[in-house]
Amino acid sequence: MNDLNPAAIRQSFDRAARHYDEGAVLQRAVADELLSRFQWLRIAPRTLLDVGTGTGYALPLLRRRFRSAHVLACDIAWGMASAARRRRVLWRKTPVWVADGHDLPLRPESVDCIYSSLALQWMDPKRAFAEFRRVLRQDGLLTFATFGPDTLREMRAAWAQVDDRPHVHTFVDMHDLGDALVDSGFADPVLDVERYTLTYESVGALMRDLKRIGAHNAATGRFPGLTGKERYRRFKQSYEMFRHEGRLPATYEVVYGQAWVPPGAPAPVSLGDRRVIPIRGV
Ligand SMILES: C[S@@+](CC[C@H](N)C(=O)[O-])C[C@H]1O[C@@H](n2cnc3c(N)ncnc32)[C@H](O)[C@@H]1O
Repeated sequence: MNDLNPAAIRQSFDRAARHYDEGAVLQRAVADELLSRFQWLRIAPRTLLDVGTGTGYALPLLRRRFRSAHVLACDIAWGMASAARRRRVLWRKTPVWVADGHDLPLRPESVDCIYSSLALQWMDPKRAFAEFRRVLRQDGLLTFATFGPDTLREMRAAWAQVDDRPHVHTFVDMHDLGDALVDSGFADPVLDVERYTLTYESVGALMRDLKRIGAHNAATGRFPGLTGKERYRRFKQSYEMFRHEGRLPATYEVVYGQAWVPPGAPAPVSLGDRRVIPIRGV
């Protein structure tokens, strides 16, 4: 469903870990919104997993919300997982693993809730949903936020004036996410979209922000080598067509989703020789 390069993703988030929190304004707002949605749900998970935890912003909030739950977290980038471990210093019981969300080091049906905020856009949703379904118990809940196709539309349009190379990821549409959830065995998917606009003084300021949060272009089809000064100058110039009241907008379309593992559903077949690490208390 996408053409992302996992090694490039891991590397850019490893590098970004140190300064991520300084740039992650939207990411915190989205995490807060996703967390607030728990208030409408009557769940009491024994085990909850944060996939793509980043620097672990949500971990203390999840622990506070679900006091009796065993909260687990993983991230594909070592730098991010280390930052989350540092944040977790006062509540050491939360294990934070370096692990790929497509291949979780967990037994089948061992988790009651998966929470994932703004990590799925870096993953293949079909593979990720199948893996989430594998580790979730019956009646388990998946709740996530990810970016939709309108995200960074100004940047996509500005680059389109310069060349036809992929400079911005292709983000998956809400309806395709819904279909992928159902295909993976989830029931009652609920999805909705919210748009956010951040504004910047200059294209340079926007690019610096994206770099700080590790959102580099990790599309495998990207142009190898430097963008080139002249092409970048033309890109900046065409982005100016969006300037409004002195500021340059960057639009983000955020898809919020939730789905359930139906009660009585047969356990999904475990694939291949995946690693299984037993977790105490699970
Ligand atoms: C934009 S950050 C969001 C972090 C955090 N959830 C937050 O709300 O601040 C995306 C995170 O997803 C992680 N990630 C990307 N691909 C992943 C994968 N396949 N498995 C686990 N984590 C992944 C990245 O390393 C990064 O830390």
